[in-house]
Amino acid sequence: MTKRLLIRTWGCQMNVYDSERMAEVLAPLGFGPTEAPEEADMVILNTCHIREKAAEKLFSELGRLRLVKEERRQAGRDMVLAVAGCVAQAEGAEIAARAPYVDIVMGPQTIHRLPEMVARASRAGGLVLDTDFPEESKFDHLPEARTQQGVTAFLTVQEGCDKFCSFCVVPYTRGAETSRPAAAVLAEARRLVEAGAREITLLGQNVNAYHGEGVGGLSGLVRALAEIPGLARIRYTTSHPRDMGDDLIAAHRDIPQLMPMLHLPVQSGSDRVLQAMNRGHTADEYRRLVDRLREARPDLALTSDFIVGHPGETDADHEATMQLVRDIGFAGAFSFKYSARPGTPASRAPLQVAEAVKDARLAELQALLAEQQRGFNAARVGQEFDVLVTGPGRHPGQIAGRSPWLQAVHAEGPQGLEGSIIRMQAVSATANSLTCVLKDSAKPLPEQHAA
Ligand code: 5AD
Ligand code: SF4
Repeated sequence: MTKRLLIRTWGCQMNVYDSERMAEVLAPLGFGPTEAPEEADMVILNTCHIREKAAEKLFSELGRLRLVKEERRQAGRDMVLAVAGCVAQAEGAEIAARAPYVDIVMGPQTIHRLPEMVARASRAGGLVLDTDFPEESKFDHLPEARTQQGVTAFLTVQEGCDKFCSFCVVPYTRGAETSRPAAAVLAEARRLVEAGAREITLLGQNVNAYHGEGVGGLSGLVRALAEIPGLARIRYTTSHPRDMGDDLIAAHRDIPQLMPMLHLPVQSGSDRVLQAMNRGHTADEYRRLVDRLREARPDLALTSDFIVGHPGETDADHEATMQLVRDIGFAGAFSFKYSARPGTPASRAPLQVAEAVKDARLAELQALLAEQQRGFNAARVGQEFDVLVTGPGRHPGQIAGRSPWLQAVHAEGPQGLEGSIIRMQAVSATANSLTCVLKDSAKPLPEQHAA
């Protein structure tokens, strides 16, 4: 009988990737997916620590699962309960103390050891804690097969961060910056394409700091990936302005598969705050970088991350952020209230900003960003562009897809076009999606490559 596995994922796309890998390493042990905790022989909570309340959310979720685990035990069936991800990495000891019924606590770097941990947990009982940063890379020890396939796929190429922004836990939870060798990335990309992926998003906390063996930087990796027949679209996220080198900017000009969209967090538009954040660049340097990117690729859309209320942020600093947003014009953005993370320098800084002030600044910033996003989507109406068909639409006779700028697209059209790239014209826009009409029939697929 197959065993049932439930994985709940919070946080970034790298966690989504890790969750998929966890499902894959457990598949040979007979685990298949379920959505229902009552049915689950194993539950993994893959957690995120980047902003507040992560731990509280985790403990309330654990409280609910404890009851389910109890009920199952009374019915003679067990449930292995695992906490993974960055909260596990940062607060393993607290989890063990506050939730002693948890069987496994594991950080992001040890997911390849999961089968062994499951065996130890079921054999011996008691907590299995593995929050090492092991010598061996998890990537070298994960199975090659990628089972959960789609037209679009994530591929982690880089992990960790050495930037130490004042507010951020990532350097502590994900550890030092490391890059996978190009050969391993290219092999995984080829397998994804063979299994039907047409768009791959390269993932890394600091993806443009990629320096994997074999290709030099990220631009070299993108160029090598662009040689894979059948791989129509390449994206990468998340980038740091400081690592946006000339070669990568040139790749945006030269490589048609590289989609005209870049997520480039700036966090603040005030030089004082940028300095306090240890970001290593000024607001004008960011503006000039965007100018150069737009020169290289005029249709490039920019998205970003912002934090309001970093310690010491004044009204004038906030206004500088608003001005930067007006100057650049973003296609979308994530914006957050600063939240003090234990162990980070900013959490110990004086002049913490009052909650009500943060609320007001966030509302003002989000209103502007939402207006820009609507404007960006509305500006597509009337334009023609290529849409990657990802599946059937919500209503019969509809297809769903993705624009070059990651907008969700709906159109009337024939079924069975998954993975095709079709010329469409946008006829209307909402805040998050575009309605399009097909302009011509599906383009022939570039030759699928045989291994
Ligand atoms: N408080 C608020 N937002 C944060 N981020 C990272 N750390 C914090 C924090 N302590 C935001 C940043 C980052 C995004 C992933 O999360 O904007 O780019
Ligand atoms: Fe965190 Fe800064 Fe590294 Fe991004 S660059 S992961 S915000 S420390």
